[in-house]
Amino acid sequence: MGSQITIAEIAPRDGWQNVKEYIPTETKIDLICQMIDAGVTRIQAGSFVSPKAIPQMLDAREVFSAVLERYPTTNVFALVPNMRGAQDAVECGLKEISVVVSVSQSHNKANINRTVDESFQQLKEIRESFPGIILNLDVATAFGCPFEGETSLESLLRYLDKAADIGVNSFDLCDTIGVAYPVQVERFIQEVRKSFPRMPLEIHIHDTRNMGIVNTWVAIQQGITNVQTALGGLGGCPFAPGASGNTSTEDLVYMLQKNGVETGIDFEKLMKSARYMRSIVDGNYSGHQININTTQPCTA
Ligand code: COA
Ligand code: ZN
Repeated sequence: MGSQITIAEIAPRDGWQNVKEYIPTETKIDLICQMIDAGVTRIQAGSFVSPKAIPQMLDAREVFSAVLERYPTTNVFALVPNMRGAQDAVECGLKEISVVVSVSQSHNKANINRTVDESFQQLKEIRESFPGIILNLDVATAFGCPFEGETSLESLLRYLDKAADIGVNSFDLCDTIGVAYPVQVERFIQEVRKSFPRMPLEIHIHDTRNMGIVNTWVAIQQGITNVQTALGGLGGCPFAPGASGNTSTEDLVYMLQKNGVETGIDFEKLMKSARYMRSIVDGNYSGHQININTTQPCTA
């Protein structure tokens, strides 16, 4: 198990994409700055997607430009669904992008309006057009799909084989709808490691069934050192019925610090920014500590 975990904060993308009321650009920038000031060193500050699909991400260019200018050494990255998104991200000055492709045909169609093969073709073109960019693959529905049920290990490995041939730089195994369970997480990570021993792995686990923290802990015990979580436990894919919030960043930071695992994040400052966000952004805060109603100070 690693003694240092890098948490990628994804509330500005996975969290806000699901918030109905438009969050003003300045508010987005301010909240992202608070997260970075709390010690977050890696952050998905938005996505370059069709505004018809996700109206909340309309101002991604302005948000990314402001954050990149203010925090040139922070690892700021974006989710993109296609070549157009990749081009926009690169034009904006990003050095790292995550392309999302589902393992499941039906979820890829609902989310991206493409077959998995069409998305892989785009991924290949993105790789060829931008050889210098860090290209992560967001493996949506890696553990289960809202339309097709549990993902089989065989179909996941077949999918990852194609992605590895294209030359992606990392796999981000996403439990898009929060159906993964500890034994599955352990087995999938072990098998993916066996088949792709040199490929960096990250995980992204929704907390729909209250298994976010335990699944994340199991992954960390398997040696995973890169984890994506969302402040307040916000999150969810609008194109995955039944999806709900992510594992919450502050809940994970609390658990890791208690267990002697370093994250570099200041828990008090993080809680403060989580509470502030909740006071101004109406969303599905599924985190636990953010919902504790107490005047007691929270200390990690
Ligand atoms: N950013 C902004 N606009 C985009 C875009 C992008 N990345 N990709 C396509 N568009 C625009 C096109 O320019 C076109 O515009 P026009 O109508 O003015 O000509 C329009 O969107 C339709 O383009 P098309 O390629 O036919 O897209 P589509 O309707 O098949 O939708 C996606 C495909 C991928 C663009 C859309 O499904 C999408 O953005 N999905 C993202 C879903 C998401 O973020 N899910 C949550 C995260 S996992
Ligand atoms: Zn997600």
